[in-house]
Amino acid sequence: MPDRIRLDGRIAVVTGAAGVIGSATIGLLAERGARIVAVDRKREELEAAINALPSSAEALAVVADVTEEDEVADYVRAAVDRFGSVDVFYNNAGIEGEVKPITRYSLEAFRKVIDVNVVGVFLGLKHVLPVMLKQNRGSIINTASIAGLVGSPQIAVYSASKHAVIGLTKSAAWECTGTDVRVNCVCPGLIDSRMLSAILDGRKAGNAPTPPEKIVERIPARRLGLASEVASIVAFLASDEASYVSGSAYTVDGGRTAA
Ligand SMILES: NC(=O)c1ccc[n+]([C@@H]2O[C@H](COP(=O)([O-])OP(=O)(O)OC[C@H]3O[C@@H](n4cnc5c(N)ncnc54)[C@H](O)[C@@H]3O)[C@@H](O)[C@H]2O)c1
Repeated sequence: MPDRIRLDGRIAVVTGAAGVIGSATIGLLAERGARIVAVDRKREELEAAINALPSSAEALAVVADVTEEDEVADYVRAAVDRFGSVDVFYNNAGIEGEVKPITRYSLEAFRKVIDVNVVGVFLGLKHVLPVMLKQNRGSIINTASIAGLVGSPQIAVYSASKHAVIGLTKSAAWECTGTDVRVNCVCPGLIDSRMLSAILDGRKAGNAPTPPEKIVERIPARRLGLASEVASIVAFLASDEASYVSGSAYTVDGGRTAA
């Protein structure tokens, strides 16, 4: 018995693959034996993420914008053409958007966050589910956030978008009734990353009540999380070890929302 979850031969499509969490996840999934289709809108960063994979990894990079339906259909088609199926789909691309109170949030900025975080996740589900339902197997993991479970000042739109991701996840799980297709989401907490820094910097400028240095005092683990710790849960949910897990929202937050 291997002492780690293995994903040998599985075909894993990962969006937002050039980002902090996405690149850590393609690294771990490849290490566990999966073949990778890495999707992001940033070409150079995507190439860098692919180049950082273990030399034994089989990987395909697809530059695509997850908000454009044609491009979503294309990345799914590219995965099937190259590898024959999609076994794992990590629907992860997302943006934090502007960091400011609702009263100062423009409608344009609101729509941009919803477009990437909700429409992008919806389109991914819309185009990957038919492939998985046809083959009667597969595991989808969407990236929500603890901001999808509780409110969060100055990122209300981001929080609303992540609540929507949880709703899409649970509903999609129901739509896979009677099949071996599972749909879950991860809810990362405060992960040491560019996105967290952008949110904390934005709040500092807006004089939010909680100073950034006090943040870890409100986390039972007393530290920020690592992208690799999110990737571990994604690998678990992707695997047969999670065969009875569907419709769940897995927190990876060091206990931050345990109260
Ligand atoms: N970092 C955190 O603390 C944290 C916490 C909770 C949830 N999350 C979520 O985790 C996911 C990954 O976040 P991250 O920290 O790696 O952020 P990141 O900014 O490092 O990575 C996000 C990636 O998504 C890509 N992307 C954005 N819009 C896209 C689009 N329209 N089409 C294609 N690609 C697009 C970006 O180019 C980037 O490479 C996001 O959904 C984020 O909301 C992050």
